[in-house]
Amino acid sequence: MAIKDDVLRALLRREDAISGSALARELGVSRSAVWKAIEQLRGEGYAIEAATNRGYRLSSGPEALTLPEIGRWLRPGPIGAEIQIYDELDSTNARAKELALRGAPHGTAILARRQTGGRGRFGRKFFSPEGSGVYISFILRPELSADRAVMLTSMCAVAVARAAECAADGGIEARIKWVNDVYAGGRKLCGILCEAGLDFESGQMQYVVAGIGVNVGFMDFPPELKDVATSISNECGRAVARSRFCAELINEMNALYPQLESGAFMDENRARSNVIGREIYVLRGKERYPAMAVNIDDGGSLVIRTAEGELRTLRSGEISVRFR
Ligand code: BTN
Repeated sequence: MAIKDDVLRALLRREDAISGSALARELGVSRSAVWKAIEQLRGEGYAIEAATNRGYRLSSGPEALTLPEIGRWLRPGPIGAEIQIYDELDSTNARAKELALRGAPHGTAILARRQTGGRGRFGRKFFSPEGSGVYISFILRPELSADRAVMLTSMCAVAVARAAECAADGGIEARIKWVNDVYAGGRKLCGILCEAGLDFESGQMQYVVAGIGVNVGFMDFPPELKDVATSISNECGRAVARSRFCAELINEMNALYPQLESGAFMDENRARSNVIGREIYVLRGKERYPAMAVNIDDGGSLVIRTAEGELRTLRSGEISVRFR
């Protein structure tokens, strides 16, 4: 961790001021390194007062996505034991895949403050501006056969929904649109893109990259997204910190991951569904047909009834629903 992060953590821990030399002693670094770190933090927007004879005091911090800020809410666990934060990446999923192929351990989390080529499902782009979103990819190494892969997406959706409600202090109700979107107030606030590396011999997944993009801070959406997208802050009406959301997400991932085999989280996934019992359209390539969403089974598949009365099980694919 950079000295800057250690200095920030030390300032966050106390209400009162601390002198540069005391900070330097505490961290085992030089006074000039402390001074440089303070300047860097100010450059990032932290308001750090420096009173003669009293030292430094953090008077306010921006909604910064940094390790020390995340660490304030993070509980230890295998997921997020290693967190890498980048100012900019093309796509956190792409970076996570590279690292997975180079042997990065289970649970590694890759975060970017902005993405220049954020990827959505079906080759779409994912709007990833700076300052308000959390763009995170987890490298996971589950012992799961490829046909159970959808369980991971279902698990991530529950983790995002819980984390969003917790970070908003209960100010929103998060719903899951099968299989990879999380909604609030009838608009989308998160998309999930899970990509896997397969071992063809065993049919087992070598690794999964679970990519999660969440709108957290207050956001103004471009006209084409205004009616369909929202953010946690927009919905609860107050500024929710990205670092807090991020930590809660990792905490929930750690809580839910041990249930991957049993699928115990599927009851909650169903309870949070905003599609069960609704008229939907199933979109398959160029095909589009109406159906009724009947249920989500324990394997994470959507059970639908077609207009002809036939029951079908969709393991993946896309559906559209009119929420507003
Ligand atoms: C979708 O809505 O179609 C899924 C969007 C997934 C976006 C996230 S942002 C973090 C990770 N990196 C990417 O390039 N995509 C995922």
